[in-house]
Amino acid sequence: MSANATVHEMLAVEGGQPVRETLLPYGRQAIDDDDIQAVAETLRSDWLTTGPKVEEFEEAFAARAGAKHAVSFSSGTAALHGAAFAAGLGPGDEAITSPLTFAATANCVLYQGATPVFADVSPGSRAGGFWNQLAHARNSPGRLCRPPL
Ligand SMILES: Cc1ncc(COP(=O)(O)O)c(C=O)c1O
Repeated sequence: MSANATVHEMLAVEGGQPVRETLLPYGRQAIDDDDIQAVAETLRSDWLTTGPKVEEFEEAFAARAGAKHAVSFSSGTAALHGAAFAAGLGPGDEAITSPLTFAATANCVLYQGATPVFADVSPGSRAGGFWNQLAHARNSPGRLCRPPL
């Protein structure tokens, strides 16, 4: 950052103007009574693991997404691992991602024996680093880029 940077150009932690005055929540879920009732019905049923509700959910999700199939996972981490597997990541491959996200994003790359490469961590690369790496990776065999989560 140059010595002449204005409060609009500086990060708030460096004395710049904050981009918002209120807390930006990490997540904001919407759970209604129907959701709670569906969970209660499942808990009262004979199926706590992979039962008929899973297939029902996958079919409904695929229909909504306009996809032939949908596969559900038990967690975000498991889904990311599945995505890394489906992308064919393995030893010798690199996956470029942002460090400004949950650890599972990089861990799923490690689970496949590949190497996570963090973009956008150098001073001055805040805006262009990730996309520069992405452009470079398109011409590099064995590299997978994913948008930051
Ligand atoms: C961006 C992001 N990715 C992955 C995960 C991992 O999800 P889970 O805790 O369901 O494994 C989280 C969890 O908060 C997350 O915020």
